[in-house]
Amino acid sequence: LRSLRGRDFLTLLDLTPLEFKALLRRSWEHKYGVVPKDLLKGKYVAGIFEKPSTRTRVSISVATFDLGGVFLELPISNLQIARGESIRDTAEVLSRFVHAIAARVKQQSTLEELAKWASIPVINLLSDKFHPLQALADIFTIQEFFGDKKVKVVFLGDGSANTNHSLMIASALMGYDYSVGAPKDYWPSSDVVKRVEEIMKKTGGTLSILEDPVEAVKGADVIYTDTWKSMGVEDVERRMKVFPPYQVNMEIVKKASPRVKVMHCQPWYIGEEITEDVAYSEYSIAFEQAENRLHTAKAVLEALLS
Ligand code: CP
Ligand code: NVA
Repeated sequence: LRSLRGRDFLTLLDLTPLEFKALLRRSWEHKYGVVPKDLLKGKYVAGIFEKPSTRTRVSISVATFDLGGVFLELPISNLQIARGESIRDTAEVLSRFVHAIAARVKQQSTLEELAKWASIPVINLLSDKFHPLQALADIFTIQEFFGDKKVKVVFLGDGSANTNHSLMIASALMGYDYSVGAPKDYWPSSDVVKRVEEIMKKTGGTLSILEDPVEAVKGADVIYTDTWKSMGVEDVERRMKVFPPYQVNMEIVKKASPRVKVMHCQPWYIGEEITEDVAYSEYSIAFEQAENRLHTAKAVLEALLS
């Protein structure tokens, strides 16, 4: 974990499998063990929000407070950025007041710009391209249910979503088998696919990207989905036409492994990407997944800051 101190947390592509697994182990201790409550004593974290958030906002703030630190919530509309102040100046100034900047932004490039000019760690709380804290909590949750076993994770729906990109990378770091079932126009970004394949060569994972959802879920231990209309997308009407065959309903769940678990980062749109009977069924572990955002956020904050 020591190797993460002072670093940014912008994408899981920056982590080695060992670093990722160290975060998972430490998350376990934060959830089930006894961890000192003063690991972030005297540390301040600035949280910048350019988009709404429930789980991420509350988990990262409670995680900071619970470890003895202070979280400052800064909606972007209340910062001078709203009146045109540059990301560079914001990063330089905040670096003189606080110990980390956590930001949920429209563009991954905003995080990169923040990180370029900040002298403190920058943490990605979701961008158009990645959602690394989510994927850490996702893998933690998978391990709670499946242990150290190699599993097959299948993502259905918007393969170009931030959550899919990060979960693909996380699964590659774990050496999992990963399938995406998505319409061709919404397949994952090719630069991410390339990096995932490189990581999998070392970790022994496999990746398949398919148009046929039924083919994709064969043997799935985990079926994962996310909204079809991520924050900021513009082609909603078109999406509502092409995504219905990828809905996670009982019919598709029955085609996976009998012990399959269904995951969703939430918020979900019931009747769109997931049906009510699946969302609230014994198959669904979405609320455990949401809870684990807290324990895993603690491991990240501790690793970067303490
Ligand atoms: N899963 C997730 O990031 O949820 P919020 O948008 O509520 O933070
Ligand atoms: N892909 C979704 C995730 C929300 C937590 C979005 O970006 O809106």
